[in-house]
Amino acid sequence: MTRIEWLRPVLTQPEYDFGKLMATLLSPSSPLQSEEFLKGREKQLSHIKRALLQSGRHALIHGLRGVGKSSLAQTSAYALPESEDAILIGCDENSTFATIIREVFDQMSGRSPVFEKSITERGLSFSRFGLGAEGKNSLHEGRASDPSSVNEAVRLVRFISENLTNRIVVVVDEFDLITNRGEQVIFTNFLKQISDQHVSATFIICGIGESVETLMDAHASADRYFHTEGLQQLPWEARFEIVESAAESLGIEIDRNTVIRIARISDGFPHYIHLISEKLFWRVFEAKNGGVVT
Ligand SMILES: Nc1ncnc2c1ncn2[C@@H]1O[C@H](COP(=O)(O)OP(=O)(O)OP(=O)(O)O)[C@@H](O)[C@H]1O
Ligand SMILES: [Mg+2]
Repeated sequence: MTRIEWLRPVLTQPEYDFGKLMATLLSPSSPLQSEEFLKGREKQLSHIKRALLQSGRHALIHGLRGVGKSSLAQTSAYALPESEDAILIGCDENSTFATIIREVFDQMSGRSPVFEKSITERGLSFSRFGLGAEGKNSLHEGRASDPSSVNEAVRLVRFISENLTNRIVVVVDEFDLITNRGEQVIFTNFLKQISDQHVSATFIICGIGESVETLMDAHASADRYFHTEGLQQLPWEARFEIVESAAESLGIEIDRNTVIRIARISDGFPHYIHLISEKLFWRVFEAKNGGVVT
């Protein structure tokens, strides 16, 4: 083997190490969290980062299924300066405003039990969220939230933020899966109150279709406290880059035609670019033909 070949993982590494390395480069099944791997979204990322430097502003990311919303949301959340590690919340059909707020609390108290202790010791009560002087109770899933719970939620998030030096950043993903439109509206009211009352918390919401309209229609002033980013399929250059940079790190030689074919088949949906590249690179690994795509 020549010196250069020693540097090519596809030729030198055992299956396990090769697979582990590939998993750091290609992730068809989970959203990205780091700028290094997020291709073709530089402009959108920079817009979100700039917009969220203003306190009282939140972000809304929308676009077709699989276009890369969660990846942009999580990468932005982790890139914000002077903020706590992001809280990631995924919604489902049973989510309500109350379950989201309770989840924010649970994730924060999982990091530091001081919040729960402090509620108990100070005799505070956030009863709508199952939190009180006697400790935590479970929330009744599916029960509709009471609109006046907005104030209590604002108090709860303020209570958490006052015990932290950095601002809270929460990604609320799959907002469209909340089936009850009323819950979506209450959540929008809550975001406005967070802004109006100067609570140090920033929310990044991902959604598709009608849920976006619900958010924006809930208040005439919604565009004042939301930065909105609509995502389209990835541009060609970014599609090429995903395949080529992963191939390069694995020491795989890939011709331009194959790269273009993968980019075309994917139609700009990054999941498919990752998935096809992963399958192809395993074939190259198994073929033991000098690490070349044939
Ligand atoms: N800009 C990007 N560059 C490289 N890979 C990306 C990019 N955006 C997303 N991906 C990859 O594509 C896959 C799908 O992205 P993501 O989960 O963010 O999409 P989504 O719009 O949230 O999908 P869904 O609508 O199903 O929730 C992820 O596994 C991620 O690794
Ligand atoms: Mg997603």
